[in-house]
Amino acid sequence: MPRTLDPQLRRALAARIRYYNELGIYDFYRRPLSDRGGEIAAATVMDEAEIAVPTNQQGSEEEMSPRKAVAIAMPVIEENIFEVIALKPEQSISDPVQALKIIREDLGDCTRCVLHKQGRKQIVFGVGNPTAELMFVGEGPGADEDAQGEPFVGRAGQLLNNMIKAMGITREQVYIANIVKCRPPGNRTPERDECATCSPFLMRQIAVIKPKVIVALGAVAAKTLLAMNASMAQLRGRFYDFRPAGIRNTDRSNDPAWDGCKLAVTYHPAFLLRDPRQKGEAWKDLQMVMKELGMKAPKATT
Ligand code: URA
Repeated sequence: MPRTLDPQLRRALAARIRYYNELGIYDFYRRPLSDRGGEIAAATVMDEAEIAVPTNQQGSEEEMSPRKAVAIAMPVIEENIFEVIALKPEQSISDPVQALKIIREDLGDCTRCVLHKQGRKQIVFGVGNPTAELMFVGEGPGADEDAQGEPFVGRAGQLLNNMIKAMGITREQVYIANIVKCRPPGNRTPERDECATCSPFLMRQIAVIKPKVIVALGAVAAKTLLAMNASMAQLRGRFYDFRPAGIRNTDRSNDPAWDGCKLAVTYHPAFLLRDPRQKGEAWKDLQMVMKELGMKAPKATT
């Protein structure tokens, strides 16, 4: 029989999970019923077991020792304690500037993937309006971005700025970020595992900013955000309903009204620099976005 949590137990679980959060642990899992030998007691049980090290704690085994995770045995269906309590730390903060700061701090001097030791100068977090209605997501920093610590500041960035201007808005009004926050050596395409390691931070940024529309610039951004493998021809020309993966939006979140946004795919500006004939197609994508946002393009001046 589904049941809700006893308030006292709920408080105890919340305190325990907060304790783990303070240690930097946000990933929990429930042991499946079959692993528990069917010993689900009517009174719920919270025990610690030597099971696993959280995935975001690479390189910190010494601090983490003994390696522990929380295993919770409870037949609760109506109310999943993890969905209620295991929110990301920024989700209880209403100021988006502060919330983004927390995510940045959480990233720290990131060494989670190999890109940290392949010549990156700095992490390129993201830039722009923390309450932007429109967000652009690229692939990863290039040399200029790596040097300046800001996405899209090189040649591709100049073109992106012009695209934004053509929409009748400014770069400062939107938010710009990338799938990976460190420059891949020689501007190679980021590997799948690098995207998978880094993108949860982008998902958290998106959940804080709560845009109305995201424009994925190029195939890497589109495929990572949509978690699907398709060609640009298949991906462009329509909206997708997007919810940031791994983010729980519960009634304790600071904006229960935001339940994801639209996502459109267009060509990466670096591709448009190589093949300017496709600019018209990209403009069609942006016009679709403008219509969705109720925006009118500025009149062309002569
Ligand atoms: N290309 C990207 O994908 N992102 C940048 O920030 C710059 C170039």
